[in-house]
Amino acid sequence: MWCINRSLSLVPVYFPPSNSPISVSVFTAIRFLTSKMLSASAAERNKGPIAEILKLYLRDGMKVLEIASGTGQHVSHFAPLFPGTTFLPSEKDARSIHSIVGYLDHFRHSNVRVPLFVDVSKPVSNWALPEDYAPNSVDVVLSINMIHISSDAAVIGLFEAANALLKRSNGLLITYGAYKFDGHISPQSNADFDESLRSKNPEWGLRDVTFLESLAQRNMLRLKAKHEMPANNHMLIFSR
Ligand SMILES: C[S@@+](CC[C@H](N)C(=O)[O-])C[C@H]1O[C@@H](n2cnc3c(N)ncnc32)[C@H](O)[C@@H]1O
Repeated sequence: MWCINRSLSLVPVYFPPSNSPISVSVFTAIRFLTSKMLSASAAERNKGPIAEILKLYLRDGMKVLEIASGTGQHVSHFAPLFPGTTFLPSEKDARSIHSIVGYLDHFRHSNVRVPLFVDVSKPVSNWALPEDYAPNSVDVVLSINMIHISSDAAVIGLFEAANALLKRSNGLLITYGAYKFDGHISPQSNADFDESLRSKNPEWGLRDVTFLESLAQRNMLRLKAKHEMPANNHMLIFSR
């Protein structure tokens, strides 16, 4: 499976070194043969607005675990904006992990760890977490555009993992995406999006925030804030 956003485009990218004597056209010619760095147009559009909200919550010294990192565009955008924060990206899709590694090889961020294989529907005890991401030691679990494009097992797993990994005192689960509110999806474009997701995979679709709040409650979390985002998306902040 690969990322499906409202715009389905996903293309390899290649950034020639800035001092390269080789012309850009040569790089353009070879990029489809060499690049493992993928680019999702939705991630390009939403990374800036998401970073603006993260500025309200991320502080120096924090450890962030990103679930379902996709291409690696987000973590690569956030790393230089939050130099005092450590990011650990993760994915269950091999092609995505390959792409994240491509971004990290290229940008060499000192505050991003090697991406981890994580299927969030599986218990945290199955994950090969590094020692410093042990249970009750993570400040923020971040998940962008996964909840509506994954199974119930993955959504439930996300909240269970957040409960297991987040610090007991002040951990945050931050999610971004399109949601249903009180049984209603609006505007029509979100309802159409929900319909198209379900037709691709009956396990997918916009989740009701009330359902997410019940998962939060079962996992020692509560919905602390809802931020309206461009294109009828929201960012949800669940705290201890
Ligand atoms: C729409 S993409 C979003 C990727 C990225 N966060 C972004 O916004 O560009 C959904 C991602 O969820 C991941 N995903 C789906 N189910 C998952 C699971 N059970 N565990 C981990 N990742 C999962 C997919 O591999 C895919 O990369």
